[in-house]
Amino acid sequence: MPSPTAPVLAAGRLIGARAVVTGAARGIGAAIAGRLHAEGAAIAVPDRLEDQGRASGEALDGVFIAVAAWTARSPLGRLADPQDVAGVACFLASADGAYLTGQAINVTGGMITH
Ligand SMILES: NC(=O)c1ccc[n+]([C@@H]2O[C@H](COP(=O)([O-])OP(=O)(O)OC[C@H]3O[C@@H](n4cnc5c(N)ncnc54)[C@H](O)[C@@H]3O)[C@@H](O)[C@H]2O)c1
Repeated sequence: MPSPTAPVLAAGRLIGARAVVTGAARGIGAAIAGRLHAEGAAIAVPDRLEDQGRASGEALDGVFIAVAAWTARSPLGRLADPQDVAGVACFLASADGAYLTGQAINVTGGMITH
C-alpha cells in the first residue's frame, strides 16, 4: 500500500493547462516543471540562465522565455521585484487608496502605459 504522503502522478490531469514556472532552468523549478509536464501541462520556462533554460524548455517540449531580453526592454532597466507589487497592493488596501475603485493599475515599470 502506498504511503499516504507519497506523491501520486495523475497522468493527463493537466492536459490543456499551461504552466509558467519561473526559475525552471534547474533545481526545484525544473523539478516542478517536470512534474507538471508529466501530468500533461504545456510548460513555459522564464529564467535568467540562457543555455540551461533553453535546454530545460526543450526537454519539456515547452518554450524558454529569456528574462535578460525582457529586462533589456524595460524602461526602468530592471524587472519587478515582489516589493514593487506589494507596495501598490498595500496602497490599495490602505486608507490612502480608500476612494480608488474600478481601476486597473499596471505595475510594469513603464512597459505598459496608458
Ligand atoms: N534546494 C533546497 O534544498 C532549498 C531549500 C529551501 C529553500 N530553497 C529555495 O528555493 C529556491 C529555489 O532553490 P533551488 O535549489 O532550485 O535554486 P537554484 O539556484 O538551483 O535555481 C533557481 C533558478 O531560478 C532562476 N532565477 C533566479 N532569479 C530569477 C529571476 N528573477 N527570474 C527568472 N529566473 C530566476 C535561476 O537562474 C535558477 O535557474 C531558492 O530561493 C532557494 O533558496 C531551496
